[in-house]
Amino acid sequence: MPNRISIDNRLPADHFTRTLRADVAEGLTAQPKTLPPKWFYDAHGSVLFDRITRLPEYYPTRAEKMVLRAHADDIARLTGARTLVELGSGSSEKTRLLIDALSAGGTLKLYAPLDVSESALEEAAESLCRDYPDLRVEATVADFETDLPLPDAAPRLVAFLGSTIGNFDTDQRVAFLTRMRTILTREGDALLLGVDLVKDPKTLIRAYDDDQGVTAAFNKNLLRVLNRELGADFDPGAFDHRAVWNAEAERMEMRLRARVTHTVKIPALDLTVEFTRGEDLRTEISVKFREESLTEDLTASGFTQSHWWTDPQSRFALTLATPA
Ligand code: SAH
Ligand code: AVI
Repeated sequence: MPNRISIDNRLPADHFTRTLRADVAEGLTAQPKTLPPKWFYDAHGSVLFDRITRLPEYYPTRAEKMVLRAHADDIARLTGARTLVELGSGSSEKTRLLIDALSAGGTLKLYAPLDVSESALEEAAESLCRDYPDLRVEATVADFETDLPLPDAAPRLVAFLGSTIGNFDTDQRVAFLTRMRTILTREGDALLLGVDLVKDPKTLIRAYDDDQGVTAAFNKNLLRVLNRELGADFDPGAFDHRAVWNAEAERMEMRLRARVTHTVKIPALDLTVEFTRGEDLRTEISVKFREESLTEDLTASGFTQSHWWTDPQSRFALTLATPA
C-alpha cells in the first residue's frame, strides 16, 4: 500500500461480538422487532450497496451526483477546505467531484474517509491514491455513532453524503448533529449534508424494491451476518423483503416479513426468537427530508445553514452549514 495511505482501525476488538450482541439482544426482543442498519455493511453488504447505487430504480446516488457536479466548485470556494472528512464514505465514488474541485482550488491536502466497513475503505483508498498522486488519504475504520475523530488540519469540511443521516430517527439525528457541532471548533470548519427529499411514494418504493432483487439481497444479507457472527440459524428464504412508505414519519422502511411461523436460535446470546407468520422485522429507516425541517434540526444543533442546492427535479439536496 502506498505510504500516502493510512488505515487506522479504531473499532474495539469486540465490536462484532459485544456491540452486535447488544444490538441484536435489544432489537429482537423488542416489539416490533428491529435491527440497526449498520450491520448490513460487511464486505458482501458493501458490494451489494455499491450495486444498488447503479440500479435504474435507485435515483438518490445519481441525483446527488448531479448536485455535486453543479456545485462542487461553489463548495470548494466557500469552504477552502484543507481537510475533507467523509463519514460513511463507502466507495468514495461521488466524493471525487469534491476532491477534484478542492484540488483545483488549491486548498485540499488530506482526504479522511471514515467507515465501519474496512473492505470498502481499503478499496476506496487504493483507488483514490492511484488516481490522485498528490493526495494523502487517512482512512479510519470506526462507528460514527460512538467515535468521531477529526484530523487537526483546518479548515475541515465534513461531508456526510448519500442521505445516510436518514438512517437516524429525529432524536438520533439531532443528537448526532449536536455532537458534530461540538467537534467543529476550528475557524472555517463546515458540514456538507446530502439528503434525499420527500417525493411520490411510488418512486420511493421502487428505489427500495428493485426488479433485480439487489435490495432484497442487501436486506437479507443482515441475516447472514447474524448467522456468521452469532451462530444464528436464520433461513433467509423464510423471509420476504418489504419496502414500506411510512407516510406519517415521512420515511421509507425496509422490513423482512416472516413467510411462516418459525423459531430462530441465536446460540451466542442464548436466545430463541419466535416469528409469527406475517410478522415484520424492521431493518432500516430512511427518512426523507424537507428543507424547513432540516433547517430547524441544524439550527437546534447549533449550525447555521448557509446553502441549499437540489438537482433540477428536486429529488435530492445538498446543504452546507457552519457552526452558528
Ligand atoms: N457515502 C456513500 C455510501 C453510503 S452507504 C454513498 O453516498 O454512496 C452507507 C455507508 O455508511 C456504508 O459505507 C456503511 O458502511 C457506512 N456506515 C453505516 N453505518 C455506519 C456507522 N455507524 N459508522 C460508520 N460507518 C457507517
Ligand atoms: C445508506 N443509506 C442511506 C441507503 C438508503 O437509501 O437508506 C441504504 C439503502 N437501503 C436500501 N437501499 C439503499
